Amino acid sequence: MNAAPKPRVYSAVQPTGNLHLGNYLGAIKNWVDLQDGYDCLYNVADLHAITEQQDPAALRAHTRSVAACLLGAGIDPERSILFVQSHVSGHAELAWIFNCVARLGWLNRMTQFKDKAGKHRENASAGLYVYPNLMAADILLYKASHVPVGEDQRQHLELCRDIAQSFNSQYGTQTFPLVEPLILGVAARVMSLRDGSRKMSKSEPSDASRINLTDTAEQIQTKIRKARTDPDPLPGAPGGLDARPEARNLVGIYAALGNKTPAAVCAKFDGAQFSTFKEALADLTVAALAPITREMDRLLRDPGHIDTVLAAGAERARDLAAPVLAEVKHTVGFLPG
Ligand code: TYM
Repeated sequence: MNAAPKPRVYSAVQPTGNLHLGNYLGAIKNWVDLQDGYDCLYNVADLHAITEQQDPAALRAHTRSVAACLLGAGIDPERSILFVQSHVSGHAELAWIFNCVARLGWLNRMTQFKDKAGKHRENASAGLYVYPNLMAADILLYKASHVPVGEDQRQHLELCRDIAQSFNSQYGTQTFPLVEPLILGVAARVMSLRDGSRKMSKSEPSDASRINLTDTAEQIQTKIRKARTDPDPLPGAPGGLDARPEARNLVGIYAALGNKTPAAVCAKFDGAQFSTFKEALADLTVAALAPITREMDRLLRDPGHIDTVLAAGAERARDLAAPVLAEVKHTVGFLPG
């Protein structure tokens, strides 16, 4: 008897710069773990990256280095499909169909567009505005049901559900599943090391605000030593972190990296000064990231190998996408080509 098919996972990261600890703890660490129970597709979202201007040479370099980072973190290209978004044209084709399903009112509510477009809304690209439609196309091109992401992507996944539901009801079909966000662990929203009210981000001008997965041990130690905190010692329980966003963030990072609960971390460091805690946190961070950085460096010495892995992933992804795209085109009334 055949085993029941595993539920399908899809997720992606943009190659707009170096990956950081927020990407790792909010998403990639979970992607690695999910490989055991799910049929996983992991993607480097270069079509999303160009919604804001990119230097072409830097985009190429970041696309390879993000792929190397995912491999270094433990994405196994035999078990999972690892590929580049622009290598599978179905993403752009389905996104166009979804541009005709999503309503302007839904897109107008997207907080990420408002944040990214800022005061220069009139100058933002049309691509940035329809960015969530392309995300929905990414996921639904494979009829994925589970999407592991950090907290900041929740609203986009709600839009993906709206699009799936609207498509199904408009055409009277059950074509698309309603996706479940997998927002896992205590570090679904890692904050800046300089300001506990802002999330850790690639686009933050200060490099001291984030730990990059390419940072050396010394850089990590310095950034953690200089991370903003308050003068109080660590509390014995997480309740004592209320209204202490920077302290809460560092405890959350320790908990996520050490696979512990914040309560266990507080109990361990009850009453310790932050100088002591930061040393332990820096050691833990270096120990967790060094093997990833080392493997990433090794892989980047052979870009041809990375390209081969990505080409094989794209081929497998195209095979999965083709019947879904054919079904959707038939449903909307396109003639077979
Ligand atoms: P991106 O490239 O901004 O981030 C990749 C993943 O990292 C998570 N993340 C964080 N998690 C915790 N704390 C943080 N400070 C932090 N910063 C980033 C993000 O939530 C994300 O899971 N639009 C997506 C890429 C994408 C996608 C998709 C995701 C394209 N298509 C389809 C899921 C499904 C993005 O820009 O992620």
